[in-house]
Amino acid sequence: MSVTAKTAARKAATATIKVGGKERYHEPAPAHIEVEEFRKVVTSRRSVRKFTSKPIPQAVLDDCLDMALLAPCSSGLQPWEFYVVRSSDKKAKLVKACMSQLAAKTAAELIVCVARTDRVDDFSRKMLREWPMPDVPTLVKRYYQLIPYNYSPGPLNSFAMVKKAAFTVGGLVAPVPRGPYTSAEVQLWAAKSAALACENLVLAFRAHGFDTCMMEGYDEVRVRKLLKLSDEAFPIMVVGAGERAEDGVFWPQIRFERELFVHEV
Ligand SMILES: Cc1cc2nc3c(=O)[nH]c(=O)nc-3n(C[C@H](O)[C@H](O)[C@H](O)COP(=O)(O)O)c2cc1C
Repeated sequence: MSVTAKTAARKAATATIKVGGKERYHEPAPAHIEVEEFRKVVTSRRSVRKFTSKPIPQAVLDDCLDMALLAPCSSGLQPWEFYVVRSSDKKAKLVKACMSQLAAKTAAELIVCVARTDRVDDFSRKMLREWPMPDVPTLVKRYYQLIPYNYSPGPLNSFAMVKKAAFTVGGLVAPVPRGPYTSAEVQLWAAKSAALACENLVLAFRAHGFDTCMMEGYDEVRVRKLLKLSDEAFPIMVVGAGERAEDGVFWPQIRFERELFVHEV
């Protein structure tokens, strides 16, 4: 099915409900999700540094990537990419770039997650073109028309500085967005959403009976070169995936006391 046909089908299939006399989109939460099964996935996920030689079936890999792409993302703009490194030559180079870590060397699949800051304009327009309901609400239209300006730092952060000054003044009288303004802040903006997609990815592998190791121990310059990344695309982690070897987890999981991290205020 073409993208246009898919979009049209999605728009036509939207379920609605009347709330207070007004037509509203309706997506009921599914019932009967087994929390214990979810807990098993979460608690059995460990960083695995040694994998067996068992390959990951293509259908499993695809399903896990699809679940990664369902992660929440800032403004719905999906600032991520996943490079499944398949060619043996590229894989060997990537293992080397990962400092030949065992987790990379033994992984059945190596996936590089890349955060991108250069697709905000395109994806804002795409969002409006492919909006999944017959009419794009006016507020949504305005939002996606304005968003490219929000996430543009400008040459040498020039727009960022102007925006920061304006919002700092505006912030004296009312709550205002405090960024992302500078290119570093926009990178962080993209990395946050991309990291959430990585978490979906590793949990999906676990749910399929496979394991993973997230890695940021790599030579970014070499990874960039290997994937021919532009300056506005940056690798945030390499995920090694495969079947857990019997001695694939090196020690019990360590987590400090809850009180150090959870605060009720
Ligand atoms: C962003 C990130 C980068 C990581 N980089 C590496 C790495 O390069 N090599 C490695 O062996 N483990 C790496 N890890 C795994 C962590 O060491 C591991 O998650 C942590 O020790 C907790 O263990 P657990 O994942 O089994 O709960 C990384 C984890 C994260 C989230």
